[in-house]
Amino acid sequence: MPTLAEIEAEAKVCVACPLAKGRTQVVFARGDPRADLMFVGEAPGRDEDLQGEPFVGRSGKLLDRLIAEEIGLDRTGYYVANTLKCRPPGNRDPLPEETAACRHWLESQIELVQPKVIVTLGNFATRSLLNTTEGITRLRGRVHPFRDGIVLVPTFHPSAALRGGGAVVADMRADLIRAKRALSP
Ligand code: URA
Repeated sequence: MPTLAEIEAEAKVCVACPLAKGRTQVVFARGDPRADLMFVGEAPGRDEDLQGEPFVGRSGKLLDRLIAEEIGLDRTGYYVANTLKCRPPGNRDPLPEETAACRHWLESQIELVQPKVIVTLGNFATRSLLNTTEGITRLRGRVHPFRDGIVLVPTFHPSAALRGGGAVVADMRADLIRAKRALSP
């Protein structure tokens, strides 16, 4: 089994789909690869493409703050990755063929990090990992068994909280508390 560093080195030069042409760089992950808690988002945006780390823009700052307030961890205490490792042009939705081409990187990350809890952020990551077409509003609010003893806690994408305000933030806080309980039942 290759190490996470080896997988990352391979991913950094991936040209498996056309998104490779438009990227500044591959955005693999940030945080602690030994963490029990992992977050999975959709795809890098402009800030992430430029800086090379997931969730470094406004929605990432909100995410980090909510995690600190509800779980008590700073950004070194969890692992963060996206479903797609390269930025779709203009932040459009990922295409099925891009998701399919990119999927094995996320699978390797889950296998090597071996988190206890995965929090999926928004429709795209949640549907993709739970392999469903159900929407986030119906899927969130409970813990889903995932695989190998890992539980999955779906929540809204922090950009929905930036747009939607207090009610969305309150639901995200409740989901983060669910994740915290699942970490140490
Ligand atoms: N949105 C995501 O889904 N991921 C990022 O890394 C940034 C914004």
